[in-house]
Amino acid sequence: MSVWIMWRRIGRTFSYFQWRWRTAPNHEMVAELPDSLQQLFWTMHPADQAHCIRAAVQCRREALRRGMAAHDRERLEQAALVHDVGKGVIAIGLGPRLVSALPFIPGLQRLFMLLRPNGAEQLMVLADHAQLGANLLARAGCAEAVVELVANHHEPALDNDVLAGILQRCDNGC
Ligand SMILES: [Fe+2]
Ligand SMILES: [Fe+2]
Repeated sequence: MSVWIMWRRIGRTFSYFQWRWRTAPNHEMVAELPDSLQQLFWTMHPADQAHCIRAAVQCRREALRRGMAAHDRERLEQAALVHDVGKGVIAIGLGPRLVSALPFIPGLQRLFMLLRPNGAEQLMVLADHAQLGANLLARAGCAEAVVELVANHHEPALDNDVLAGILQRCDNGC
């Protein structure tokens, strides 16, 4: 892994945490979610909430630009707003996120797990948050297509899966 990629990963993790400055929260979008999904949305760290709103705003823009059908646009926006709810199952701050962004530093994760009583659990939740989130959403009665988008938001998107591709691009850019 090159120094440049390492630098970008660290930078992205820090900028993600500038949620207080980077987002004018558009809570109107959150209010459009069904109640059960709103409850899940508020379980996320404020940095994740802000990130999801930014991703949803980008997705809306992209969907409008492409003239997408309202049904697909709503599905995409909903998935973007809740795509990281899996991270809300336990409190996860900047530390574990930095550690998980640097898996190539030998011994770092082991050291973190030794020093933090719940470090292993935090890293596990970060690694599995897509599937954890999808399970929570399925239990909350979320539409199957949205659950699917959330479950796969870190998997390589198939060329013909337009919604998954847009969600991933907006997620990476926010
Ligand atoms: Fe994610
Ligand atoms: Fe995300």
